[in-house]
Amino acid sequence: MINCYGLCCLLLFLCGACSKSPVTDGEVPLPEPEPVDTRSTREKYSAAITAWPEAEWYSGIIKKELAELPANPNAKPNTEVLRLGKVLFFEKRMGSIQNSCSSCHNPAKFWTDGSRMAIGGGVRNTPTIENAWHLKGHLFHDGRAATYAEQITEAIESPIEMDGDLNIIPWILSQIPGYPPLFEAAYGSNSITRERILDALEVYTLSISSGETAFDRFVRGDYAALTDKEIEGLHLFRTKGKCINCHNGPFFTDLQYHNLGYAVDFRGDLDNGRYEVTGFEADKGKLRTPGLRNVSNTAPYWHNGEIATLEEVIDLLNRGMPHTGRQKINGTLSPHIRPLQLTSNEQRAILAFLNTLSSEVLKVESPTLPQ
Ligand code: HEC
Ligand code: HEC
Repeated sequence: MINCYGLCCLLLFLCGACSKSPVTDGEVPLPEPEPVDTRSTREKYSAAITAWPEAEWYSGIIKKELAELPANPNAKPNTEVLRLGKVLFFEKRMGSIQNSCSSCHNPAKFWTDGSRMAIGGGVRNTPTIENAWHLKGHLFHDGRAATYAEQITEAIESPIEMDGDLNIIPWILSQIPGYPPLFEAAYGSNSITRERILDALEVYTLSISSGETAFDRFVRGDYAALTDKEIEGLHLFRTKGKCINCHNGPFFTDLQYHNLGYAVDFRGDLDNGRYEVTGFEADKGKLRTPGLRNVSNTAPYWHNGEIATLEEVIDLLNRGMPHTGRQKINGTLSPHIRPLQLTSNEQRAILAFLNTLSSEVLKVESPTLPQ
């Protein structure tokens, strides 16, 4: 009797015997040449992201593809907490510097101040707070704040941001008759506490997202949303330009820290970046990869606001971040920054692609502040 195993062996043997032609020396058949992909870049990209041409990854990189804008899990309906948070975001009376969060994170300027350094002091450029909800654990250019409460406390108490004192602010707000009813509506009692102030500000901050872009429409299958040049730029961003190695995922950041040189701040001092947080020599001069949504709307660039335009950013990256003027490196340049040999047409295509990451400016009415 023949069992199943025996039958399989027999079949395999027979198949092998009939398909195997005898190979003699010098007669090894050449492999079929790879079929040449004659499709245009547009055709290659008019498909689901998973079917796009393979990106050029540096070895050791966690490969994370680009993706469309996800829904913000913190976009709350217009609750009373959100309303209070918005009022506090525009409130200038919390600190001795007459700054509100909105002085630096101005909604009309895509939640930045458009200045090289934060207005009112400091040595760093004000980042947008759009999509800050995905930065948990990585807040600030060096990622030093792990939680929103920590980050907002620093914003309020820093002598160069608002110079307020969260032990005194509850009392200051309780002296303004319009405030206790807002806390009552939001939290069920009119007591004003540090925790409630931080919570309301966090709820408001996390509700802020960037909007839909031409890139998102393209990814969702509206292939007319990008021009040929913009698609060429997308391709270069993922391949020859190597940008995707650090700027990836739905927000175009790996949430990692890299050294791109250009560490000198406006006073002429070196910014230590991530080193201040970890104390590791290897982290000197490293900064968090910023997201790139609405990047065309948030000049100037770099943690120190040293680079004025996107053309300059791309040109410097293309040349491997050479130092011009008084700029210097602190620590060691990322091994992933090297000359790219992009032609000027290719650089313009990358710029055109970056412009497709812009959404409409959100129209935000300033709230009437309690009196
Ligand atoms: C004087 C200008 C100024 C004011 C006022 C200010 N910020 Fe900022 N904000 C900055 C700067 C500059 C940074 C980056 C600082 C750094 O990396 O060291 C920042 C970072 C942030 C971040 C982290 C963003 C990121 O990409 O890591 C959030 C969120 C934020 N601020 C929210 C607020 C809130 C909420 C308030 C009000 C309580 C506020 N800020 C007040 C200038 C300001
Ligand atoms: C090795 C990782 C890495 C690579 C590769 C890389 N970037 Fe960046 N990028 C960063 C980091 C980190 C910063 C922030 C530098 C700083 O603040 O000092 C940055 C900053 C930027 C900024 C400024 C954003 C802002 O808000 O200030 C733009 C624009 C940008 N990169 C585009 C690109 C493009 C285009 C490419 C490809 C040609 C690229 N990057 C390649 C890590 C990288």
